[in-house]
Amino acid sequence: MSESFDVAVIGAGPGGYVAAIRCAQLGLNTVCIDDWENSKGKASLGGTCLNVGCIPSKALLESSENYYRAIHKFSAHGIKVTEVTVDVPAMIARKDKIVKTFTSGIAALFKKNKVTSKQGRGTLVTAADNGRPWQIEVSNDNEVETIQAKYVIVATGSTPRQLSFISEDNDVILDNAGALALTEVPDRLGVIGAGVIGLEMGCVWRRLGAEVTILEAMPDFLAAADAQVAKEAYKVFRKEPGLSIQTGIDIKSVTSNKKDVIVEYADSNNALQKLTIDKLIVAVGRVPNTAGLGAQAVSLRIDDKGYIVVDEYCRTGLKNLFAVGDVVRGPMLAHKASEEGVAVAETISAMERGKNDTAYKIDFNTVPWVIYTSPEIAWVGKTEQELKTAGISYKAGQFPFIANGRARALGETPGFIKILADADTDRILGVHMLGPYASELISEAVVAMEFAASSEDIARIIHAHPSLSEVMHEAALNVDGRALHI
Ligand code: FAD
Ligand code: NAI
Repeated sequence: MSESFDVAVIGAGPGGYVAAIRCAQLGLNTVCIDDWENSKGKASLGGTCLNVGCIPSKALLESSENYYRAIHKFSAHGIKVTEVTVDVPAMIARKDKIVKTFTSGIAALFKKNKVTSKQGRGTLVTAADNGRPWQIEVSNDNEVETIQAKYVIVATGSTPRQLSFISEDNDVILDNAGALALTEVPDRLGVIGAGVIGLEMGCVWRRLGAEVTILEAMPDFLAAADAQVAKEAYKVFRKEPGLSIQTGIDIKSVTSNKKDVIVEYADSNNALQKLTIDKLIVAVGRVPNTAGLGAQAVSLRIDDKGYIVVDEYCRTGLKNLFAVGDVVRGPMLAHKASEEGVAVAETISAMERGKNDTAYKIDFNTVPWVIYTSPEIAWVGKTEQELKTAGISYKAGQFPFIANGRARALGETPGFIKILADADTDRILGVHMLGPYASELISEAVVAMEFAASSEDIARIIHAHPSLSEVMHEAALNVDGRALHI
């Protein structure tokens, strides 16, 4: 007889594993099925985020930033270091150890919360109907079994988007996993795509000494960010030695021999250019992953971009079937995936308690974005261009890091924080940052927006001195033109 569960979660990335833990905390008998294998062919929970995404990329960003500081920034503090060298295999091994700690940590969390963990591919076989539960096949190299569950949460994530004319071998032409596993610093590195991965990975290898050229198809740099932040970031990045960012390009061909990779492209003036490099990272976005899920067999709706179609509560329209994370609409971010996972777990628990009219959702307007470049970029809420398009009148208050004592002490002065507030009500509509530790500073803005704060609220809150958070305070004061230190 097949095993039976209250909830089956397919995928153990930040969407799936968090959903599974929350379901179990709510007293639901839960199984989580995941097919990820690490380079040694071993099961490794945590999905893209823990294995080849957020965690390993931030480990390498931190290591490479330390190296860069030692060479380029310590002398300004009166610290002389000679013969700084980088041991890339040791850096990669440190990153791998962090990944291992966290992926096995999920296995421990599953055990603690009594989530059953199954290694293998989960395929939807038959939908729940007439009191019959969902039937799901779990298959791996060794066996195939069928399990049953009353509810299913699909959290199968995303995979790198491929360009049809480029074949990534993860030797010289790399996807995001290959970009995190180089064993030496390439002299010349090319990156296709100046999106989040392209910028972060370009940053890592540039700091370690590579000459990095980033080629971006769109005419504007970081079109999703506030235009003023994007413009300032572009200005700062372009001053970095060893980094070239070209926008408005059109890739014509990519070829490789044992020695070089050659990228032929038309530049923004439509002139043909040739870039010769040692390694090429292709980071042109990610696509939702529904391969092998059995969507067709159960008539699960997939849109023309490959996303599972869901409503605002992550309901698919099929009885008791939900989908969360990168495989559905909305930003492809780990924290968005996790919060959707929690919301769906709470919804299922409510349904089990007979509250069929209760469903939980998350507010995309308060999902923070962070790009871990140097300086970091972060934002939440609406950009100026979005407010203009929507015809909403707003006031803007801005303050630069260069006028902040803590930023001066850190020696990290480029950038600013900008607060956008409704012209009539003063309610904060968006906060945009370029600067040191923007990834941490953005939380104050998220809290403020979640509590419907006005810029006056932030202006009246006492911020510790000296701290970077004072830039937020001064930006809020400046919404009414009353910043004190400029
Ligand atoms: P995933 O993490 O992709 O997990 C899906 C899991 O499901 C995988 O383990 C997959 O193998 C498994 N699976 C798929 N199909 C099946 C099946 N049929 N049966 C069983 N298992 C299946 N986001 C941030 O918020 N911050 C960051 O700093 C950040 N950095 C990133 C850096 C890089 C280089 C990359 C690539 C991504 C980064 N992201 C970051 C994005 C983040 O990793 C994703 O948004 C997040 O992992 C999505 O979570 P998920 O649970 O939806 O899917
Ligand atoms: P992305 O969507 O951020 O950027 C892809 C870039 O490639 C875009 O600027 C696009 O215009 C460009 N592009 C597409 N086709 C091209 C072509 N043929 N030639 C040249 N340029 C081309 O996608 P990316 O960087 O691959 O990352 C995927 C997702 O992963 C992100 O959108 C983000 O959601 C997530 N992520 C989040 C991070 C974070 O939160 N710090 C870090 C890394 C990834």
